[in-house]
Amino acid sequence: MVKVLCIAGARPNFMKIAPIMRAFGAHPEIEPYLIHTGQHYDERMSRLFFDELEIPKPDRNLGVHGGTPTSQTAAIMQAFEPVCKEYNPDMVLVVGDVNSTVACGLTSVHLGIPLIHVEAGLRSRDRTMTEEINRIVTDSISSLLFCSEPSGIVNLGKEGRYGDKVFHVGSVIADTLLANLGKAKALPTLSEMDVRPGTYGVMTLHRSSNVDDPAAFARILDIVEKVQKEYPILFPIHPRTRKNAETFGLTDRMRKMPNLRLTEPLGYLEFLNLNAHAKFVMTDSGGIQEETTVLDVPCLTLRENTERPITCEQGTNTLVGSEPERFFAAFEKITNGIRRHATVPPLWDGKAADRIAYVITTKWAAKKCGKPFPGNL
Ligand code: UD1
Ligand code: UDP
Repeated sequence: MVKVLCIAGARPNFMKIAPIMRAFGAHPEIEPYLIHTGQHYDERMSRLFFDELEIPKPDRNLGVHGGTPTSQTAAIMQAFEPVCKEYNPDMVLVVGDVNSTVACGLTSVHLGIPLIHVEAGLRSRDRTMTEEINRIVTDSISSLLFCSEPSGIVNLGKEGRYGDKVFHVGSVIADTLLANLGKAKALPTLSEMDVRPGTYGVMTLHRSSNVDDPAAFARILDIVEKVQKEYPILFPIHPRTRKNAETFGLTDRMRKMPNLRLTEPLGYLEFLNLNAHAKFVMTDSGGIQEETTVLDVPCLTLRENTERPITCEQGTNTLVGSEPERFFAAFEKITNGIRRHATVPPLWDGKAADRIAYVITTKWAAKKCGKPFPGNL
């Protein structure tokens, strides 16, 4: 048996950890445990997903949240260290690029426990993003690296990480989407929100570069103001964004836009149902760029870069930044029906987590036979 301590802390981690916990739970040779760091803690940013995606109740919640990237990362490390010692796992597995990812990754290697990174190798090349630093650090200390797209393999190779520690397994985000699409589409979300398929947009916004600076936030609202005159926009608002809108005095401006429908953060299934039937999605989320590619729904990414280039090359994603000219050039193509359809990227087939379980158990069995663990640093 190989004992694996799996980590999740923030909303996008839950969709990624769900298929991994399922695959590990069904594997006779893996003994999985789940630690929630507490980074996201609102009912609608955390517990809801455990119920909907049938993620096992965490074995421990570290209860750390809030603060700057530094204080949050440090607090998670301090809280995780005794828990990691107590469980004494054979490996620690982290997903994605949030502060919980790097914090638990660093703690595990400080304790001499091999680290596994799922969604390794993604690079936006924007080092002002906390997430980019988290990705680089986590990859540099991981013993096994699982990539969702070929760019991940190439990026890791350039950083000297290649060979029998790096595996292209596909997207665990696609695993969760494909497993839940039927259930999501059966929900009455569209009638409840009073929209018809193909006649509305969905927006999410939470990236620091877009919502922490009042001028940047206001520039995006200029775009939104025009778009909502043509199409209703459903906007489940992230807690960071809601708080900043209040601080910057932008809440009233949003409320006065008649076709901008602000809601609480939505459950995964409701949100998936809305995205699946949307005319377009406007977002700065990482995961949603992948999901819209699988759904073949046009995605306008309100960022200058992406760590998921395959969604632009083969998928439905267009980077539009926050300049109105660039945005409306891409938007008009969509509304005029001039749009690119997606080719689903390789291995985004719903089986990424099974591949991860297979590689881990194979490598572990080899280690038991005296072969060196592939990723020993
Ligand atoms: C984090 C991740 C980001 C990810 C996003 C997904 C980092 C560096 N950032 O950003 O990569 O895309 O999650 O959603 O890890 N808050 C609440 N309730 C919650 C969660 C957050 O009120 O349940 C508020 C708190 O005021 C908190 C702020 O949002 O201080 C920011 O939360 P935090 O987890 O630090 O960063 P996110 O912006 O959520
Ligand atoms: N999501 C959700 N409800 C919402 C908004 C997003 O369930 O109201 C899901 C979305 O489908 C995706 C994940 O949250 O699976 C993405 O998380 P987020 O955008 O917070 O983080 P990122 O992917 O940018 O790190």
